[in-house]
Amino acid sequence: MSAADRISLDLVGITKVYPSAVALNRVSLGIRGGEVVGLIGENGAGKSTLMKVLGGAIAPDEGEIVIDGRSVPHLTPAAALAHGIAFVHQELNPFANLDVAGNVLLGREIRRGPFGFIDQAEMARRVRPLLDMLGARFQPTTPASRLSLADQQLMEIAKALSTNVRLLILDEPTSSLTLSETQRLLAVVRRLRADGVAILFITHRLAEVEEVADRVVGLRDGCNAGELGKGGINRDAMVRLMIGRDVAQFYTPPETRLGEIVLRTRGLRTRANPNTAVDLEVRSGEIVGLAGLVGAGRTELARALFGIDPVHGGQVEINGQPVPSGSVPAAIAAGICLVPEDRKSEGLFLDFSLAQNVMMPSLATIATAGFVNRGAELDRAGHFRSRLAIRARQLDRPVSELSGGNQQKVVLAKWLGLNPKLIILDEPTRGIDVGAKAEVYRLMRDLAEGGAAVLMISSDMEEVIGVSTRVAVMRRGAIAGVLSRKDLTEETILRLAVG
Ligand SMILES: Nc1ncnc2c1ncn2[C@@H]1O[C@H](COP(=O)(O)OP(=O)(O)OP(=O)(O)O)[C@@H](O)[C@H]1O
Ligand SMILES: [Mg+2]
Repeated sequence: MSAADRISLDLVGITKVYPSAVALNRVSLGIRGGEVVGLIGENGAGKSTLMKVLGGAIAPDEGEIVIDGRSVPHLTPAAALAHGIAFVHQELNPFANLDVAGNVLLGREIRRGPFGFIDQAEMARRVRPLLDMLGARFQPTTPASRLSLADQQLMEIAKALSTNVRLLILDEPTSSLTLSETQRLLAVVRRLRADGVAILFITHRLAEVEEVADRVVGLRDGCNAGELGKGGINRDAMVRLMIGRDVAQFYTPPETRLGEIVLRTRGLRTRANPNTAVDLEVRSGEIVGLAGLVGAGRTELARALFGIDPVHGGQVEINGQPVPSGSVPAAIAAGICLVPEDRKSEGLFLDFSLAQNVMMPSLATIATAGFVNRGAELDRAGHFRSRLAIRARQLDRPVSELSGGNQQKVVLAKWLGLNPKLIILDEPTRGIDVGAKAEVYRLMRDLAEGGAAVLMISSDMEEVIGVSTRVAVMRRGAIAGVLSRKDLTEETILRLAVG
Protein backbone atom coordinates (compact mmCIF):
# COMPACT_ATOMS: atom_id res chain seq x y z
CA MET A 1 0.00 0.00 0.00
CA SER A 2 1.42 3.42 -0.91
CA ALA A 3 1.79 6.03 1.81
CA ALA A 4 -1.09 8.02 0.31
CA ASP A 5 -3.44 5.04 0.53
CA ARG A 6 -2.81 4.51 4.22
CA ILE A 7 -5.72 5.46 6.40
CA SER A 8 -5.63 8.31 8.86
CA LEU A 9 -8.53 8.20 11.24
CA ASP A 10 -9.60 10.15 14.32
CA LEU A 11 -12.59 9.75 16.57
CA VAL A 12 -13.03 12.99 18.50
CA GLY A 13 -15.19 13.39 21.61
CA ILE A 14 -17.58 10.52 20.82
CA THR A 15 -20.58 10.18 23.13
CA LYS A 16 -23.24 7.47 22.99
CA VAL A 17 -26.06 7.33 25.51
CA TYR A 18 -28.47 4.42 25.95
CA PRO A 19 -31.58 4.78 28.09
CA SER A 20 -29.99 2.51 30.68
CA ALA A 21 -26.32 3.48 30.34
CA VAL A 22 -23.85 6.06 29.08
CA ALA A 23 -21.82 3.72 26.88
CA LEU A 24 -19.33 6.34 25.67
CA ASN A 25 -18.50 9.67 27.22
CA ARG A 26 -16.41 11.98 24.99
CA VAL A 27 -14.00 9.29 23.87
CA SER A 28 -11.20 10.15 21.47
CA LEU A 29 -8.97 7.75 19.59
CA GLY A 30 -6.68 8.14 16.60
CA ILE A 31 -5.02 5.52 14.41
CA ARG A 32 -2.83 5.56 11.30
CA GLY A 33 -2.06 2.96 8.65
CA GLY A 34 0.77 0.65 9.68
CA GLU A 35 0.09 0.58 13.40
CA VAL A 36 -1.61 -1.91 15.71
CA VAL A 37 -3.59 -0.30 18.50
CA GLY A 38 -4.79 -2.49 21.36
CA LEU A 39 -8.10 -1.36 22.87
CA ILE A 40 -8.60 -2.68 26.39
CA GLY A 41 -11.12 -2.21 29.18
CA GLU A 42 -13.36 -4.12 31.55
CA ASN A 43 -16.59 -5.75 30.42
CA GLY A 44 -19.01 -2.96 29.57
CA ALA A 45 -16.30 -0.28 29.31
CA GLY A 46 -17.53 0.70 25.83
CA LYS A 47 -15.05 -1.03 23.49
CA SER A 48 -17.58 -2.70 21.19
CA THR A 49 -19.77 0.39 21.14
CA LEU A 50 -16.84 2.53 20.02
CA MET A 51 -16.03 0.06 17.27
CA LYS A 52 -19.65 -0.03 16.11
CA VAL A 53 -19.52 3.75 15.75
CA LEU A 54 -16.41 3.29 13.62
CA GLY A 55 -18.07 0.60 11.52
CA GLY A 56 -21.09 2.83 10.90
CA ALA A 57 -23.41 0.44 12.74
CA ILE A 58 -24.49 2.97 15.35
CA ALA A 59 -24.61 6.75 15.17
CA PRO A 60 -22.98 8.64 18.04
CA ASP A 61 -24.98 11.28 19.90
CA GLU A 62 -22.04 13.66 19.85
CA GLY A 63 -18.54 13.85 18.42
CA GLU A 64 -16.75 13.84 15.12
CA ILE A 65 -15.26 11.18 12.87
CA VAL A 66 -12.39 12.37 10.70
CA ILE A 67 -11.14 10.08 7.93
CA ASP A 68 -8.15 11.08 5.80
CA GLY A 69 -8.43 14.64 7.05
CA ARG A 70 -12.10 15.06 6.20
CA SER A 71 -14.99 15.09 8.65
CA VAL A 72 -17.55 12.38 7.93
CA PRO A 73 -20.90 13.42 9.40
CA HIS A 74 -22.95 10.30 8.62
CA LEU A 75 -20.92 7.14 8.62
CA THR A 76 -23.04 4.22 7.41
CA PRO A 77 -21.86 0.60 7.17
CA ALA A 78 -21.61 1.01 3.40
CA ALA A 79 -19.60 4.24 3.75
CA ALA A 80 -17.30 2.61 6.30
CA LEU A 81 -16.67 -0.25 3.89
CA ALA A 82 -15.99 2.22 1.07
CA HIS A 83 -13.38 3.89 3.31
CA GLY A 84 -11.71 0.50 3.71
CA ILE A 85 -12.91 -0.25 7.24
CA ALA A 86 -13.52 -3.96 7.86
CA PHE A 87 -14.95 -5.42 11.01
CA VAL A 88 -14.82 -8.76 12.82
CA HIS A 89 -17.64 -8.57 15.34
CA GLN A 90 -17.51 -9.99 18.85
CA GLU A 91 -20.92 -11.60 18.40
CA LEU A 92 -20.86 -13.94 15.42
CA ASN A 93 -23.91 -14.17 13.19
CA PRO A 94 -23.14 -16.52 10.33
CA PHE A 95 -25.81 -17.33 7.74
CA ALA A 96 -26.38 -20.96 8.54
CA ASN A 97 -28.05 -21.75 5.21
CA LEU A 98 -25.02 -20.62 3.17
CA ASP A 99 -21.65 -22.26 2.77
CA VAL A 100 -18.40 -20.64 3.88
CA ALA A 101 -17.71 -18.93 0.54
CA GLY A 102 -21.27 -17.58 0.48
CA ASN A 103 -20.77 -16.06 3.91
CA VAL A 104 -17.34 -14.63 3.16
CA LEU A 105 -18.48 -12.96 -0.07
CA LEU A 106 -21.99 -12.09 1.13
CA GLY A 107 -23.33 -9.15 -0.88
CA ARG A 108 -20.32 -9.41 -3.19
CA GLU A 109 -21.21 -12.70 -4.86
CA ILE A 110 -19.45 -13.51 -8.10
CA ARG A 111 -21.88 -14.04 -11.00
CA ARG A 112 -21.52 -15.22 -14.56
CA GLY A 113 -23.46 -15.73 -17.74
CA PRO A 114 -26.43 -13.79 -19.11
CA PHE A 115 -28.68 -14.81 -16.20
CA GLY A 116 -26.20 -13.79 -13.54
CA PHE A 117 -26.00 -17.18 -11.89
CA ILE A 118 -23.76 -17.33 -8.86
CA ASP A 119 -20.39 -18.77 -9.81
CA GLN A 120 -19.78 -21.18 -6.93
CA ALA A 121 -16.50 -22.50 -8.27
CA GLU A 122 -15.00 -19.05 -8.74
CA MET A 123 -16.15 -17.98 -5.28
CA ALA A 124 -14.53 -21.03 -3.73
CA ARG A 125 -11.34 -20.29 -5.66
CA ARG A 126 -11.30 -16.73 -4.33
CA VAL A 127 -11.91 -17.77 -0.71
CA ARG A 128 -9.53 -20.71 -0.44
CA PRO A 129 -6.26 -18.73 -0.10
CA LEU A 130 -7.78 -16.71 2.75
CA LEU A 131 -8.68 -19.89 4.62
CA ASP A 132 -5.20 -21.30 3.97
CA MET A 133 -3.59 -18.16 5.31
CA LEU A 134 -5.58 -18.51 8.54
CA GLY A 135 -4.84 -22.21 8.83
CA ALA A 136 -8.52 -23.13 8.69
CA ARG A 137 -9.29 -26.82 8.38
CA PHE A 138 -12.66 -26.38 6.68
CA GLN A 139 -13.48 -25.80 3.01
CA PRO A 140 -15.08 -22.90 1.11
CA THR A 141 -17.93 -25.30 0.39
CA THR A 142 -18.47 -26.38 4.01
CA PRO A 143 -21.97 -25.39 5.17
CA ALA A 144 -21.69 -22.64 7.80
CA SER A 145 -24.11 -24.55 10.02
CA ARG A 146 -21.44 -27.22 10.51
CA LEU A 147 -18.72 -24.90 11.81
CA SER A 148 -17.62 -24.89 15.43
CA LEU A 149 -17.41 -21.57 17.24
CA ALA A 150 -13.68 -21.36 16.54
CA ASP A 151 -14.23 -22.03 12.86
CA GLN A 152 -17.01 -19.43 12.67
CA GLN A 153 -14.54 -16.96 14.10
CA LEU A 154 -11.96 -17.85 11.44
CA MET A 155 -14.65 -17.49 8.75
CA GLU A 156 -15.50 -13.97 9.97
CA ILE A 157 -11.82 -13.02 9.85
CA ALA A 158 -11.56 -14.37 6.29
CA LYS A 159 -14.57 -12.23 5.41
CA ALA A 160 -12.92 -9.06 6.70
CA LEU A 161 -9.71 -9.90 4.84
CA SER A 162 -11.60 -10.44 1.57
CA THR A 163 -12.36 -6.71 1.33
CA ASN A 164 -10.03 -3.92 0.34
CA VAL A 165 -9.08 -3.33 3.93
CA ARG A 166 -7.25 -0.22 5.19
CA LEU A 167 -8.42 -0.44 8.80
CA LEU A 168 -9.18 -3.81 10.32
CA ILE A 169 -11.22 -3.91 13.53
CA LEU A 170 -10.91 -7.15 15.48
CA ASP A 171 -13.34 -7.35 18.41
CA GLU A 172 -12.31 -10.36 20.55
CA PRO A 173 -11.16 -12.32 17.48
CA THR A 174 -9.36 -15.02 19.45
CA SER A 175 -11.86 -15.74 22.22
CA SER A 176 -12.63 -19.20 20.79
CA LEU A 177 -9.27 -19.91 19.20
CA THR A 178 -6.57 -22.13 20.64
CA LEU A 179 -2.84 -21.56 20.73
CA SER A 180 -1.88 -22.44 17.16
CA GLU A 181 -4.79 -20.62 15.49
CA THR A 182 -4.13 -17.55 17.60
CA GLN A 183 -0.47 -17.55 16.63
CA ARG A 184 -1.43 -17.71 12.98
CA LEU A 185 -3.85 -14.80 13.36
CA LEU A 186 -1.19 -12.70 15.07
CA ALA A 187 1.15 -13.46 12.18
CA VAL A 188 -1.53 -12.24 9.75
CA VAL A 189 -1.92 -9.07 11.82
CA ARG A 190 1.83 -8.44 11.59
CA ARG A 191 1.82 -9.00 7.84
CA LEU A 192 -1.08 -6.57 7.35
CA ARG A 193 0.70 -3.98 9.47
CA ALA A 194 3.80 -4.32 7.31
CA ASP A 195 1.53 -3.70 4.29
CA GLY A 196 0.34 -0.43 5.83
CA VAL A 197 -3.03 -1.57 7.19
CA ALA A 198 -4.17 -0.09 10.51
CA ILE A 199 -5.41 -2.63 13.04
CA LEU A 200 -7.58 -2.06 16.09
CA PHE A 201 -7.32 -5.09 18.31
CA ILE A 202 -9.73 -5.70 21.18
CA THR A 203 -9.04 -8.62 23.48
CA HIS A 204 -9.13 -9.71 27.10
CA ARG A 205 -6.10 -11.93 26.50
CA LEU A 206 -3.50 -9.43 27.54
CA ALA A 207 -0.57 -11.57 26.43
CA GLU A 208 -1.74 -11.06 22.83
CA VAL A 209 -1.78 -7.29 23.23
CA GLU A 210 1.70 -7.44 24.68
CA GLU A 211 2.83 -9.48 21.72
CA VAL A 212 1.39 -7.45 18.88
CA ALA A 213 0.33 -3.90 19.85
CA ASP A 214 2.36 -0.76 19.12
CA ARG A 215 0.18 1.31 21.42
CA VAL A 216 -2.57 0.58 23.92
CA VAL A 217 -5.66 2.67 24.55
CA GLY A 218 -7.64 2.03 27.73
CA LEU A 219 -11.34 2.68 28.31
CA ARG A 220 -12.95 2.78 31.73
CA ASP A 221 -16.68 3.35 32.30
CA GLY A 222 -17.10 4.81 28.83
CA CYS A 223 -14.23 7.31 29.20
CA ASN A 224 -10.63 7.44 27.99
CA ALA A 225 -8.52 6.00 30.81
CA GLY A 226 -5.09 6.63 29.28
CA GLU A 227 -2.58 5.18 26.83
CA LEU A 228 0.55 3.06 26.90
CA GLY A 229 3.40 3.45 24.41
CA LYS A 230 5.32 0.51 22.96
CA GLY A 231 7.85 0.39 25.81
CA GLY A 232 5.19 0.56 28.51
CA ILE A 233 2.98 -2.32 27.43
CA ASN A 234 3.06 -5.02 30.09
CA ARG A 235 0.46 -6.99 31.95
CA ASP A 236 0.51 -5.01 35.19
CA ALA A 237 0.34 -1.65 33.43
CA MET A 238 -2.62 -2.82 31.35
CA VAL A 239 -4.50 -4.15 34.38
CA ARG A 240 -3.96 -0.85 36.16
CA LEU A 241 -5.14 1.07 33.12
CA MET A 242 -8.33 -0.99 32.90
CA ILE A 243 -9.42 -1.25 36.50
CA GLY A 244 -7.35 1.38 38.24
CA ARG A 245 -5.73 -1.05 40.67
CA ASP A 246 -3.62 -4.23 40.76
CA VAL A 247 -5.16 -7.69 40.77
CA ALA A 248 -3.30 -9.74 43.31
CA GLN A 249 -3.52 -13.50 43.82
CA PHE A 250 -4.85 -14.25 40.41
CA TYR A 251 -4.42 -18.00 40.26
CA THR A 252 -4.81 -20.17 43.31
CA PRO A 253 -5.82 -23.83 43.06
CA PRO A 254 -8.30 -25.07 45.67
CA GLU A 255 -7.13 -26.46 49.02
CA THR A 256 -6.77 -30.08 48.15
CA ARG A 257 -8.74 -32.09 50.60
CA LEU A 258 -9.96 -34.69 48.18
CA GLY A 259 -13.25 -36.39 48.85
CA GLU A 260 -15.18 -39.20 47.27
CA ILE A 261 -15.23 -39.86 43.56
CA VAL A 262 -18.21 -37.88 42.24
CA LEU A 263 -17.93 -38.46 38.51
CA ARG A 264 -16.79 -41.70 37.01
CA THR A 265 -17.10 -42.59 33.35
CA ARG A 266 -16.62 -46.21 32.34
CA GLY A 267 -15.77 -46.77 28.69
CA LEU A 268 -17.85 -43.80 27.61
CA ARG A 269 -18.11 -43.49 23.83
CA THR A 270 -19.39 -40.19 22.46
CA ARG A 271 -21.15 -39.57 19.18
CA ALA A 272 -18.19 -37.64 17.76
CA ASN A 273 -15.68 -40.35 18.67
CA PRO A 274 -17.62 -43.63 18.84
CA ASN A 275 -14.46 -45.72 18.53
CA THR A 276 -12.59 -44.42 21.54
CA ALA A 277 -13.59 -44.89 25.16
CA VAL A 278 -13.19 -42.27 27.86
CA ASP A 279 -12.43 -43.29 31.45
CA LEU A 280 -12.31 -40.30 33.75
CA GLU A 281 -12.72 -39.68 37.45
CA VAL A 282 -13.34 -36.39 39.20
CA ARG A 283 -13.44 -36.23 43.01
CA SER A 284 -15.29 -33.95 45.31
CA GLY A 285 -13.10 -30.94 46.10
CA GLU A 286 -11.03 -30.91 42.95
CA ILE A 287 -10.93 -28.85 39.80
CA VAL A 288 -9.92 -31.03 36.89
CA GLY A 289 -8.78 -29.09 33.86
CA LEU A 290 -9.63 -30.66 30.52
CA ALA A 291 -7.06 -29.56 27.95
CA GLY A 292 -6.55 -30.43 24.31
CA LEU A 293 -6.47 -28.94 20.85
CA VAL A 294 -9.60 -27.87 19.02
CA GLY A 295 -11.41 -30.97 17.86
CA ALA A 296 -9.92 -33.22 20.55
CA GLY A 297 -13.44 -34.08 21.73
CA ARG A 298 -13.73 -32.03 24.90
CA THR A 299 -16.99 -30.25 24.13
CA GLU A 300 -18.46 -33.53 22.84
CA LEU A 301 -17.55 -35.21 26.13
CA ALA A 302 -19.23 -32.39 28.06
CA ARG A 303 -22.36 -32.67 25.93
CA ALA A 304 -22.52 -36.43 26.47
CA LEU A 305 -22.06 -36.06 30.25
CA PHE A 306 -24.88 -33.52 30.37
CA GLY A 307 -27.20 -35.72 28.30
CA ILE A 308 -27.42 -33.41 25.28
CA ASP A 309 -26.02 -36.00 22.88
CA PRO A 310 -26.81 -39.72 23.00
CA VAL A 311 -23.85 -41.93 23.93
CA HIS A 312 -22.56 -44.84 21.90
CA GLY A 313 -21.65 -47.06 24.80
CA GLY A 314 -20.27 -47.03 28.32
CA GLN A 315 -21.63 -45.40 31.41
CA VAL A 316 -21.64 -42.22 33.46
CA GLU A 317 -21.87 -42.50 37.24
CA ILE A 318 -22.44 -39.83 39.87
CA ASN A 319 -21.56 -40.93 43.40
CA GLY A 320 -21.60 -44.52 42.21
CA GLN A 321 -25.09 -44.32 40.72
CA PRO A 322 -25.51 -44.75 36.95
CA VAL A 323 -27.02 -41.74 35.20
CA PRO A 324 -29.47 -42.51 32.37
CA SER A 325 -27.80 -41.34 29.16
CA GLY A 326 -29.11 -38.94 26.55
CA SER A 327 -31.37 -36.97 28.87
CA VAL A 328 -30.67 -33.49 30.19
CA PRO A 329 -33.36 -33.68 32.90
CA ALA A 330 -31.82 -36.95 34.13
CA ALA A 331 -28.38 -35.31 34.23
CA ILE A 332 -29.70 -32.31 36.17
CA ALA A 333 -31.56 -34.61 38.56
CA ALA A 334 -28.29 -36.47 39.17
CA GLY A 335 -26.64 -33.16 40.10
CA ILE A 336 -24.74 -32.42 36.90
CA CYS A 337 -24.74 -29.01 35.32
CA LEU A 338 -23.02 -27.57 32.30
CA VAL A 339 -22.01 -24.00 31.56
CA PRO A 340 -21.86 -24.15 27.76
CA GLU A 341 -19.31 -22.54 25.50
CA ASP A 342 -21.76 -20.93 23.09
CA ARG A 343 -23.71 -18.63 25.34
CA LYS A 344 -25.83 -17.22 22.56
CA SER A 345 -27.45 -20.40 21.36
CA GLU A 346 -27.33 -22.55 24.46
CA GLY A 347 -26.82 -20.45 27.51
CA LEU A 348 -29.08 -17.43 27.37
CA PHE A 349 -32.54 -16.25 26.50
CA LEU A 350 -31.54 -12.91 25.02
CA ASP A 351 -34.99 -11.28 25.23
CA PHE A 352 -35.43 -12.26 28.86
CA SER A 353 -34.16 -10.13 31.71
CA LEU A 354 -31.02 -10.75 33.69
CA ALA A 355 -33.10 -11.83 36.69
CA GLN A 356 -35.18 -14.27 34.65
CA ASN A 357 -32.10 -15.81 33.04
CA VAL A 358 -30.27 -16.24 36.31
CA MET A 359 -33.23 -17.84 38.01
CA MET A 360 -34.38 -20.09 35.19
CA PRO A 361 -32.75 -23.37 36.28
CA SER A 362 -33.47 -22.87 39.97
CA LEU A 363 -37.05 -21.65 39.61
CA ALA A 364 -38.28 -24.60 41.62
CA THR A 365 -36.55 -23.25 44.69
CA ILE A 366 -38.22 -19.84 44.59
CA ALA A 367 -41.62 -20.69 43.14
CA THR A 368 -44.47 -21.54 45.44
CA ALA A 369 -47.38 -23.42 43.95
CA GLY A 370 -46.29 -22.44 40.48
CA PHE A 371 -46.00 -18.70 41.13
CA VAL A 372 -42.60 -17.15 40.80
CA ASN A 373 -41.74 -14.90 43.69
CA ARG A 374 -40.49 -11.81 41.84
CA GLY A 375 -38.99 -10.30 44.96
CA ALA A 376 -36.92 -13.40 45.68
CA GLU A 377 -35.95 -13.57 42.02
CA LEU A 378 -34.60 -10.01 42.06
CA ASP A 379 -32.83 -10.55 45.39
CA ARG A 380 -30.92 -13.57 44.18
CA ALA A 381 -30.16 -12.02 40.81
CA GLY A 382 -28.86 -8.96 42.67
CA HIS A 383 -26.63 -11.20 44.77
CA PHE A 384 -25.03 -12.72 41.67
CA ARG A 385 -24.74 -9.34 39.97
CA SER A 386 -22.55 -8.03 42.76
CA ARG A 387 -20.70 -11.31 43.21
CA LEU A 388 -19.63 -11.44 39.57
CA ALA A 389 -19.54 -7.67 39.11
CA ILE A 390 -22.05 -7.84 36.27
CA ARG A 391 -22.32 -4.37 34.83
CA ALA A 392 -26.10 -3.94 34.52
CA ARG A 393 -27.95 -1.02 35.99
CA GLN A 394 -31.34 -2.76 35.99
CA LEU A 395 -32.03 -6.43 36.66
CA ASP A 396 -35.26 -6.41 34.66
CA ARG A 397 -33.85 -5.28 31.30
CA PRO A 398 -33.23 -7.84 28.53
CA VAL A 399 -29.75 -9.37 28.57
CA SER A 400 -29.34 -8.48 24.89
CA GLU A 401 -28.49 -4.97 26.12
CA LEU A 402 -25.46 -6.19 28.09
CA SER A 403 -21.93 -6.20 26.74
CA GLY A 404 -20.56 -9.55 25.54
CA GLY A 405 -18.54 -10.32 28.66
CA ASN A 406 -21.39 -9.41 30.96
CA GLN A 407 -23.66 -11.83 29.10
CA GLN A 408 -21.11 -14.56 29.76
CA LYS A 409 -21.23 -13.77 33.46
CA VAL A 410 -25.02 -14.15 33.44
CA VAL A 411 -24.63 -17.67 32.01
CA LEU A 412 -22.25 -18.53 34.83
CA ALA A 413 -24.55 -17.08 37.49
CA LYS A 414 -27.42 -19.07 36.08
CA TRP A 415 -25.79 -22.42 36.90
CA LEU A 416 -23.87 -21.49 40.00
CA GLY A 417 -27.15 -20.97 41.80
CA LEU A 418 -27.92 -24.68 41.65
CA ASN A 419 -25.30 -26.08 44.04
CA PRO A 420 -24.41 -28.89 41.66
CA LYS A 421 -22.51 -32.10 42.52
CA LEU A 422 -20.60 -31.92 39.27
CA ILE A 423 -20.22 -28.68 37.40
CA ILE A 424 -18.76 -28.72 33.90
CA LEU A 425 -17.56 -25.39 32.61
CA ASP A 426 -16.77 -25.09 28.91
CA GLU A 427 -14.36 -22.16 28.40
CA PRO A 428 -15.79 -20.30 31.42
CA THR A 429 -13.77 -17.12 31.02
CA ARG A 430 -14.17 -16.61 27.29
CA GLY A 431 -14.43 -12.86 26.72
CA ILE A 432 -14.30 -12.02 30.42
CA ASP A 433 -12.09 -9.23 31.79
CA VAL A 434 -9.25 -9.81 34.28
CA GLY A 435 -11.11 -8.63 37.35
CA ALA A 436 -14.09 -10.87 36.63
CA LYS A 437 -11.80 -13.78 35.74
CA ALA A 438 -10.32 -13.64 39.22
CA GLU A 439 -13.89 -13.67 40.54
CA VAL A 440 -14.87 -16.68 38.40
CA TYR A 441 -11.82 -18.58 39.70
CA ARG A 442 -12.81 -17.75 43.25
CA LEU A 443 -16.34 -19.05 42.58
CA MET A 444 -14.97 -22.29 41.12
CA ARG A 445 -12.70 -22.71 44.13
CA ASP A 446 -15.57 -22.06 46.52
CA LEU A 447 -17.66 -24.69 44.74
CA ALA A 448 -14.82 -27.22 44.95
CA GLU A 449 -14.04 -26.48 48.58
CA GLY A 450 -17.77 -26.78 49.28
CA GLY A 451 -17.61 -30.36 48.02
CA ALA A 452 -18.48 -30.09 44.34
CA ALA A 453 -16.48 -31.77 41.60
CA VAL A 454 -15.44 -29.26 38.95
CA LEU A 455 -14.52 -30.14 35.39
CA MET A 456 -13.16 -27.16 33.46
CA ILE A 457 -12.60 -27.19 29.72
CA SER A 458 -10.18 -24.44 28.80
CA SER A 459 -7.91 -23.53 25.93
CA ASP A 460 -6.22 -20.85 27.96
CA MET A 461 -3.01 -22.57 29.02
CA GLU A 462 -2.20 -20.10 31.78
CA GLU A 463 -5.64 -20.68 33.24
CA VAL A 464 -5.48 -24.48 33.02
CA ILE A 465 -2.14 -24.52 34.82
CA GLY A 466 -3.16 -21.85 37.29
CA VAL A 467 -6.42 -23.20 38.68
CA SER A 468 -6.47 -26.98 38.16
CA THR A 469 -5.69 -29.59 40.80
CA ARG A 470 -5.16 -32.11 37.99
CA VAL A 471 -5.28 -31.84 34.22
CA ALA A 472 -6.69 -34.46 31.87
CA VAL A 473 -5.45 -34.01 28.31
CA MET A 474 -7.62 -35.23 25.46
CA ARG A 475 -6.44 -36.28 22.04
CA ARG A 476 -8.62 -37.66 19.24
CA GLY A 477 -11.52 -38.43 21.51
CA ALA A 478 -9.54 -40.23 24.23
CA ILE A 479 -7.81 -39.20 27.43
CA ALA A 480 -4.16 -39.09 26.40
CA GLY A 481 -2.96 -38.66 29.97
CA VAL A 482 -3.64 -37.12 33.35
CA LEU A 483 -1.12 -34.77 34.96
CA SER A 484 -0.95 -34.02 38.64
CA ARG A 485 -0.38 -30.49 39.86
CA LYS A 486 3.38 -30.83 40.32
CA ASP A 487 3.83 -31.95 36.69
CA LEU A 488 1.83 -29.13 35.14
CA THR A 489 3.70 -27.10 32.56
CA GLU A 490 2.75 -25.78 29.15
CA GLU A 491 5.18 -28.30 27.69
CA THR A 492 3.88 -31.43 29.42
CA ILE A 493 0.31 -30.52 28.44
CA LEU A 494 1.15 -29.77 24.82
CA ARG A 495 3.19 -32.95 24.49
CA LEU A 496 0.17 -35.03 25.48
CA ALA A 497 -2.21 -32.94 23.36
CA VAL A 498 -0.15 -33.31 20.21
CA GLY A 499 0.96 -36.88 20.85
N1 LIG B 1 -28.22 -2.03 22.61
C1 LIG B 1 -27.93 -1.55 23.84
N2 LIG B 1 -28.91 -1.07 24.64
C2 LIG B 1 -28.63 -0.59 25.86
N3 LIG B 1 -27.38 -0.57 26.41
C3 LIG B 1 -26.37 -1.05 25.66
C4 LIG B 1 -26.59 -1.57 24.34
N4 LIG B 1 -25.39 -1.98 23.85
C5 LIG B 1 -24.47 -1.73 24.82
N5 LIG B 1 -25.04 -1.17 25.91
C6 LIG B 1 -24.35 -0.76 27.15
O1 LIG B 1 -23.24 0.06 26.83
C7 LIG B 1 -22.13 -0.22 27.69
C8 LIG B 1 -20.88 -0.55 26.87
O2 LIG B 1 -21.06 -1.80 26.22
P1 LIG B 1 -19.98 -2.43 25.22
O3 LIG B 1 -20.63 -3.59 24.55
O4 LIG B 1 -19.43 -1.36 24.35
O5 LIG B 1 -18.85 -2.94 26.23
P2 LIG B 1 -17.46 -3.68 25.93
O6 LIG B 1 -16.36 -2.81 26.41
O7 LIG B 1 -17.41 -4.12 24.52
O8 LIG B 1 -17.53 -4.93 26.91
P3 LIG B 1 -17.08 -6.51 26.72
O9 LIG B 1 -15.66 -6.59 27.15
O10 LIG B 1 -17.95 -7.22 27.70
O11 LIG B 1 -17.34 -6.90 25.32
C9 LIG B 1 -22.59 -1.34 28.62
O12 LIG B 1 -23.01 -0.77 29.82
C10 LIG B 1 -23.76 -1.96 27.88
O13 LIG B 1 -24.68 -2.54 28.77
MG1 LIG C 1 -17.47 -5.96 23.60
